[in-house]
Amino acid sequence: MNRPENNIPTRYKLLPPLHSDIEYAATFPEIIPEQIGPVIGEGTFHLVYEYGPENVIKIPRLAYRVFPIITLERVRREQKTVKKYFSEYVRENTTLESLSLPGYVIVQRRVRAENITPRNVGEVMEELTRLVSANHRLIENEGVSFDFLGFQGVLDSSKALVDPSYIPSITNILLEKEINHPPRITMVDLGLLTVDNRRSDTTGVDGLQVIFFNINRALIKYHFGLDIKE
Ligand SMILES: Nc1ncnc2c1ncn2[C@@H]1O[C@H](COP(=O)(O)OP(=O)(O)OP(=O)(O)O)[C@@H](O)[C@H]1O
Ligand SMILES: [Mg+2]
Repeated sequence: MNRPENNIPTRYKLLPPLHSDIEYAATFPEIIPEQIGPVIGEGTFHLVYEYGPENVIKIPRLAYRVFPIITLERVRREQKTVKKYFSEYVRENTTLESLSLPGYVIVQRRVRAENITPRNVGEVMEELTRLVSANHRLIENEGVSFDFLGFQGVLDSSKALVDPSYIPSITNILLEKEINHPPRITMVDLGLLTVDNRRSDTTGVDGLQVIFFNINRALIKYHFGLDIKE
């Protein structure tokens, strides 16, 4: 039964207003809400919408806007680190800051690309091997790793261990096939994972990241034959 708004207990009024994705994006002065199209991808933290003819917009999911585990400051810090270690794979990426609400959205060029799977990985194996070596240096120097699989990749790659109808996939880097250009790797999600919780402040989020890192490592070794940590 719908309850009239003025009967909502006051404790709920303490929560920030629950804007829909489009309303939330419209609070960013640079964003034109009419340009936001259908959802074309999803991850743990963002829904990815078409944005105009050339771009996508990544909008943090409602739950993470209310409880911002991922902050603008963290996104900026991770992007800086990823660009330092993997510059050759990172394409244009703009992170916008809201003036009226805490938070961010990411606008990125839309990549016409496929997830990397055991079937197509041969087309970019040399590049992927170089990227894995750069990841060894990143772990050694900073105690963090690139998150190769992403949320959907972890799901599909683990289900594939027990059910051959699932295809193992790496979703945070894509295999880009532009006309007149050899296939290449493009990074679309610049998120990082803590590798060793003895090196961090062992908050809950860091602990979960250590688990995700080890799942990434095991599944990539098993399905793609590469070890992301030396
Ligand atoms: N620039 C892009 N062009 C085309 N598709 C994209 C682009 N960026 C993301 N996608 C699609 O959306 C999916 C999710 O995007 P992304 O990895 O950025 O979200 P996330 O919430 O940060 O993910 P994670 O679960 O890894 O934290 C990607 O795996 C990809 O399939
Ligand atoms: Mg992702």
